Amino acid sequence: MNTDKERAAKLFSRVEKIPREKREDSYACTTVIDKKLTYLDGKGSRIMVLDNGQRRSLIDASGGVSTKNLGYGNERIRQVIREVLRKQKDVFGYPHHDMQNDYALELAYVLAELTPLKVEREVVFANSGSEGIEAAIKLCYNARVRTGTQKHRKDFVACYGAFHGRTLGALSLTCSKPIQRENYPTNAFPNYHIHFPAKHRYFVYDDDGDVQYTDLTRNEYLEKLKTACRKGMIDIDSVNAVVLELIQGEGGINVPSKEAIQDLVRFFKNHGVYVVVDEIQTGLGRTGKLFAFEHFNIEPDVVVLSKSLAHGFPFSAVIYDHKMGWTNKGQQSSTFAGSPLGSAIALEVLSQTLSKNLPQRAQEVGDGELGPALRMIEEENKDVVHNVRGMGLMHGIEFWNPNTIKPATNFRNEVVLESRKRGVLFLDAGISAIRITPPLIIGSDSENKRKNELGIITDTLKESIRAVKRKMKRIN
Ligand SMILES: Cc1ncc(COP(=O)(O)O)c(C=O)c1O
Repeated sequence: MNTDKERAAKLFSRVEKIPREKREDSYACTTVIDKKLTYLDGKGSRIMVLDNGQRRSLIDASGGVSTKNLGYGNERIRQVIREVLRKQKDVFGYPHHDMQNDYALELAYVLAELTPLKVEREVVFANSGSEGIEAAIKLCYNARVRTGTQKHRKDFVACYGAFHGRTLGALSLTCSKPIQRENYPTNAFPNYHIHFPAKHRYFVYDDDGDVQYTDLTRNEYLEKLKTACRKGMIDIDSVNAVVLELIQGEGGINVPSKEAIQDLVRFFKNHGVYVVVDEIQTGLGRTGKLFAFEHFNIEPDVVVLSKSLAHGFPFSAVIYDHKMGWTNKGQQSSTFAGSPLGSAIALEVLSQTLSKNLPQRAQEVGDGELGPALRMIEEENKDVVHNVRGMGLMHGIEFWNPNTIKPATNFRNEVVLESRKRGVLFLDAGISAIRITPPLIIGSDSENKRKNELGIITDTLKESIRAVKRKMKRIN
């Protein structure tokens, strides 16, 4: 009979021999779209990949899905990781929620100080964007009980097009792509979706997964919400919190009208509803300010950060009015939340974000160069480009067929593939948009290089659109 030792020896020698495709197709459930691509390394805004066996360098116009605000190959981040491993020695990975760790305490202080809320701030950590959103939801429930008022408020409101994560609570708020909700309960608590108050027209899926073309004016968003309340479709007195992205990322880079978002927030606040802002993608400088909510002069109660906070290491933080927080130990916790490594990296990310003026850089480069270049592409391609929207280094370009007023999803997909062939990695967003969220340091070495990298991104997009137009007979 085989001993476990022999079994292990056989298993681990066999694994090497199983072809990659077989491992992928038979054993691993992944979301990889282009199976020919493997990432190897990166430098600045560029990522080295193995593409069908060939080494290639691509400009990462997605910024590692908005996790790499500092770009690739950051020497100080590498040093911080080494320092933590050296200091932690063999207790590395200890479930630190049971004992204090100084990195997390330092980070809590820094985040509390940096988050411009007028209240006394407290911070709780989690391990991913979704888990941060779950913590925020639980925080709002807890706060209702703790403050002794309106305990009956159990409902949550989010927007069509919103992406807040995939765990069941967060998924109940998510309403971005039907596939994300398919086969799952999305009623972890009573929830409603309202129109995201975009300042532009856009395509979006509704609750039933049908495509809607949204073309509302500033006042109509609030009017629609009021009507929903009047008709009893939303019981505003039972609503605990509204959860908002201030620029929808996954939903298609939708930017709100300042007045319309202020109207909505005012309405909710006047009705005693907490306002939670999901800054998981928008946060830490990407939109031209440290927090996107600062553009809109609104005062949220809860702010959630993740993605770039720890440079892609699984980590999230929720910042809130300390009066809402937990007083009983054990009400909120997670084995790895606030890990020393994640906390130390986050401290370094915040330090570099501020010392390198990255929010300002995102604003200058994004609004000054990227936005205008994209609008030129829009002007030259009215037959396929619906519109361009964005702030700072968070921009999107949406494709449509203007004759049918339908989103051009296939066209968008082809442009992404064509651009990849030409050396730029774009990610899709929404129904028919491409998102452009490069690292905030894009080309920070020299003016010239910056022009080149952003220029390559927009030139490649332009050429790819042209190539796909030549190839596709019907725009759809
Ligand atoms: C705005 C926003 N919220 C929440 C999430 C969920 O984060 P995670 O995938 O880490 O759970 C994401 C991820 O893309 C996001 O962009």
